[in-house]
Amino acid sequence: MGKKNHELIPSARRLISSLRDMGYDFPAAVADIVDNSIEAGAGRVSIDIRNDGDDSWVRICDDGKGMTPAQVREALRYGATREYDKEKSLGKFGLGLKTASMSQCQHLLIASRSNPNQPQICAYAWDLAHIVETDAWEILDVGREEYTELLREPLLVRTGTVVLWRRLDRILGLKHPYGGMIKKRILGMCSELEEHLAMVFHRYLAGEAGRRRVRISVNGKQLRPWDPFVRAEKSTARLEPVVLQYDHDGITGTVLMEPYVLPHQDEFSSPEAHAGAAGSLRWNRQQGFYIYRADRMVQSGGWSNLRTIDEHTKLARVALSFDPRLDDAFRINVAKMRVQLPRQLREVIEKAIAPVVKTAQAAYRRSSGNGHIEAPIRNLGSAVAVKPVRGEGHAKVLKPVSDGAMSKSKSERLRVGARLWTIQELQDELMRIATKEEQKVVLALINRLSEERELSGGVLLSDGIPSAVVGKLDRHSVQ
Ligand SMILES: Nc1ncnc2c1ncn2[C@@H]1O[C@H](COP(=O)(O)OP(=O)(O)OP(=O)(O)O)[C@@H](O)[C@H]1O
Ligand SMILES: [Mg+2]
Repeated sequence: MGKKNHELIPSARRLISSLRDMGYDFPAAVADIVDNSIEAGAGRVSIDIRNDGDDSWVRICDDGKGMTPAQVREALRYGATREYDKEKSLGKFGLGLKTASMSQCQHLLIASRSNPNQPQICAYAWDLAHIVETDAWEILDVGREEYTELLREPLLVRTGTVVLWRRLDRILGLKHPYGGMIKKRILGMCSELEEHLAMVFHRYLAGEAGRRRVRISVNGKQLRPWDPFVRAEKSTARLEPVVLQYDHDGITGTVLMEPYVLPHQDEFSSPEAHAGAAGSLRWNRQQGFYIYRADRMVQSGGWSNLRTIDEHTKLARVALSFDPRLDDAFRINVAKMRVQLPRQLREVIEKAIAPVVKTAQAAYRRSSGNGHIEAPIRNLGSAVAVKPVRGEGHAKVLKPVSDGAMSKSKSERLRVGARLWTIQELQDELMRIATKEEQKVVLALINRLSEERELSGGVLLSDGIPSAVVGKLDRHSVQ
């Protein structure tokens, strides 16, 4: 007797509810929708957020190629299928539209127009209340009579797609989302969103992504690209880029590494330019790798466990670009918020960043008017040096540095008891002895400490751990 297989269809109610918690925050969720618009060839993407209590909404419109009714239905399927361009496709999983949207709202509506000559649109919706009630993988047909101006107006004269989020439980988070508090929260969310989109899509916004330039607006405000490497500043140092070859387990590809050392505070063209370059997480936490997949940023800062964040290397920022052929090697996650450096590349990247780190340390130490920084340019065994590929700025390539420049000056250390500590050592030691709960507090305080030093013009603490730090640690300690 032949064996019988059993098809097990997941519970829509359980699965769709669980998938709401994949880890998106609001800016990352919107960015996932913008990915789709860019992929659809959009030149303009407009994001509007309206605060109207329970009727608040978020709308993302594009002027891309749009979708036919059958395509919209497929787009709304969890695990939608289509062919991906292996070199430059922003999509990968067939999930983003649904998981990103439903992480923020309970009602996701898509309207689209694919015919440039005819103004017909079609619209469908996922509705959480309906799913919970029916436990069915069922989308709602949105009838013509339900087409409001919100859907119609953006598609009046051209093709494109409108994604509308309503019942914003995750965004509003309150039973009665009215009043000043919610207004303030939404304003804060909008500015976080602007910063995030200006950063992750900066190559697209600047027309550097090998596709047409994309304009993105939030509540009517056009976003300007935020360049982590401030290439427009004439004192930014651009070190020799290298191409790293990846060849492992049948996966081959290249990773382009473009290292930069940003100018010392005194060398920025203006205090505003210096403040703008800090980034949303501020200087210290914005050092490290900026990882791009198909020219879209998926990691902004941090050293991916190759180094720890260090005040002395805060001017080092390194672009690492790969194309979707290396997705498996980089283990990109569905929310496109996290990647891991492939194990096979870690050593070579670690070697490759050593000169960048040295140059950044030298730049950090240098007081203004002290002549030029000297920086090493080194090619790696398996890496091939290439010409810089993008950005017209005034960045410069610099000369080798002597190891003597590495010795730590006394003024850069904290004196704790009988011993001198760097901020980094202090952080490492505190993190080592802290409980999990305390670690968050330690990091927050160390960051604040570093920021205060930045704000005070880089004046370094020299005597003992500030009592404020110790006091706060005590208060937050856990039994
Ligand atoms: N704004 C849009 N314009 C045109 N087509 C779209 C749009 N948004 C989504 N689609 C279509 O719907 C499909 C599903 O989108 P979804 O974001 O869920 O998955 P994906 O982009 O293929 O992969 P990923 O999960 O990595 O984002 C896309 O592949 C695309 O064909
Ligand atoms: Mg997508």
